[in-house]
Amino acid sequence: MSVSLKGRSFLTIKDFTKEELEEILAQGERLKLDHYAGKDEKLLNGKSIGVIFEKPSTRTRVSFAVAIYQLGAQALILNTSNMQLKRGETVADTGRVLSRYLNGIVARVYSHKTLEDLRDYGTVPVINALSDYTHPCQIMGDLLTIKEKKGHLEEIKIAYLGDGNNVCHSILFGASKFGMNVAVATPKGYEPKRDVVKDAERFAKESGGSVLITNDPEEAVKDADVIYTDVWASMGEEAEHDERVKVMRPYQVNDSIVEKAKREVIVMHCLPAHRGEEITDSVIDGPHSVVFDQAENRLHIQKAILSLLI
Ligand code: CP
Ligand code: NVA
Repeated sequence: MSVSLKGRSFLTIKDFTKEELEEILAQGERLKLDHYAGKDEKLLNGKSIGVIFEKPSTRTRVSFAVAIYQLGAQALILNTSNMQLKRGETVADTGRVLSRYLNGIVARVYSHKTLEDLRDYGTVPVINALSDYTHPCQIMGDLLTIKEKKGHLEEIKIAYLGDGNNVCHSILFGASKFGMNVAVATPKGYEPKRDVVKDAERFAKESGGSVLITNDPEEAVKDADVIYTDVWASMGEEAEHDERVKVMRPYQVNDSIVEKAKREVIVMHCLPAHRGEEITDSVIDGPHSVVFDQAENRLHIQKAILSLLI
């Protein structure tokens, strides 16, 4: 059964039912096949979509611009450093004004509250392109990748190692919605937010999945089908980099930890990677790594999200 998502904003995976998320994945699979068959459908023909960045980006910037083009719409890539936001215009007024021109807003922001304000004061769908809280488009693309590699999501064990950050939060939401077994290993003091873990535990109960939060990386990767990691210092945390490298060293994804998972484990990273820190060259360039397939799937899943919501 098809569900209508038209007009909705996409701020976190937790706001969507499993059925709605399945619809997004199915649309992503369809659009990817169409793309490879040379049949991109102009599902957003004539529309205009703003893509706003408060922070740097390579994948998100380019994959959204290309996604919007392939859907027949135009992308306006906006950096807040040269918007009036920089000179004190409020987010609320920005949302109100942009809604008069645009059919949708994609935004990468420091504070998640900025996305909520754009959604609440504007009148067009807002899509989260990363905030301090979550990175939902990333994880939807990653779920598509896991499905492609493993054939299904239910009962897959995903182990996340390192910092309990925005990417980790979205993995907790996504995995628990789909009945996966998610294990997160972080150093003490770097665990994912308590309310995120609570929500994920509730979703896992409904879906038949499970959630484990531990400080032991070996416990997390035992029997894992997927190992996932991300940078130890996210954008905005550069000043803490050296201290974080010291505490997170035991959580590095290297050959020895990969050997402790299932033999056919896949290794994922949202990129950009800090090679030699959270992941070694031998792993990211090795036979288990699917990081560039993940990066590609950002394009297909974002086309799905845009075409269903806008
Ligand atoms: N993974 C990801 O969002 O990459 P960018 O920061 O390059 O957009
Ligand atoms: N956790 C990282 C993800 C980058 C795509 C950050 O927020 O910088």
